[in-house]
Amino acid sequence: MNIVNGKTKVLGLIGDPIEHTGSPAIHNLLASKLGDDAIYVPFRVRSKRLEEAVEGAYALGIEGLNVTVPHKVEVMQYVTELDDAALEIGAVNTLARIRGGYKGYNTDFSGFMRELDSLDIQVNGRDVIVLGAGGAAKAVIYTLNRLGARQIYILNRSIEKAEEIFGDQPGIKIMGFDGWKSIPSDKYICIQCTSVGLSPEDEACVIEDEGFYDLIESAVDLIYKPKETAFMKKVAAHGGKAYNGLRMLVFQAASSYEFFMKKEVPEEIVEELYHELDS
Ligand code: ATR
Repeated sequence: MNIVNGKTKVLGLIGDPIEHTGSPAIHNLLASKLGDDAIYVPFRVRSKRLEEAVEGAYALGIEGLNVTVPHKVEVMQYVTELDDAALEIGAVNTLARIRGGYKGYNTDFSGFMRELDSLDIQVNGRDVIVLGAGGAAKAVIYTLNRLGARQIYILNRSIEKAEEIFGDQPGIKIMGFDGWKSIPSDKYICIQCTSVGLSPEDEACVIEDEGFYDLIESAVDLIYKPKETAFMKKVAAHGGKAYNGLRMLVFQAASSYEFFMKKEVPEEIVEELYHELDS
């Protein structure tokens, strides 16, 4: 980490809780790899003080902030400008300093896009299965649509909740987890966006039924702790390729960093960072 001085750019994260965040490690490593004079600090911000926190951050000259649970939607009210993708997704995870305030972005979207690209998973014209309909799924589904997915099957525990969020979108079919049986027999790309299987519940898997996994050609589980989830093990056992969410985490961090620092992060640095965090 760099030694802080009078010119050091301050970056950070606002959320509640923030104790277990991995973002400071990633951003501080990025700053040091790029030789930037910047430091990234986590700030616990209670919901009722969010507006004050954003205003205060601007007054303090903070260059950029990531935004995490529970502020990703609420914070949209307090930005000076909003990126189109963030507006469509309905969530902001990055605030980059501009004149008079912050511009809000969603880099879960750009991070996921870069993850698919780096894994050479081609979505255009394909049918895709998405498990989950929460905040992460919103950015994933937006990305899949942007990349030209033909049909998206959303399987969620609460069908009603998924209908509320995605029900009016063309090319989307919503069902419960049992609904996979009605999906035409073929090979699909599948994105696992629920929190099921997240450490310490390592053994849990959102769909236990082995038959489901015959449908999967390649899958991304957004979870990265554990490194190989029970879901990924099942995909692999049925001959599919399975990847965890670490790439997306690193890519979204790199995209945020680019907005904060207004410079490009070379792809080889992102790869290097990914391999260091994966080891
Ligand atoms: P995130 O921001 O990580 O997406 P979220 O918005 O809370 O978090 O969404 C969590 C997702 O995991 C939802 O799809 C949720 O299903 P519901 O919409 O029915 O709540 C899903 N999820 C969480 N716990 C689950 C469980 N035990 N079984 C099945 N799905 C679960």
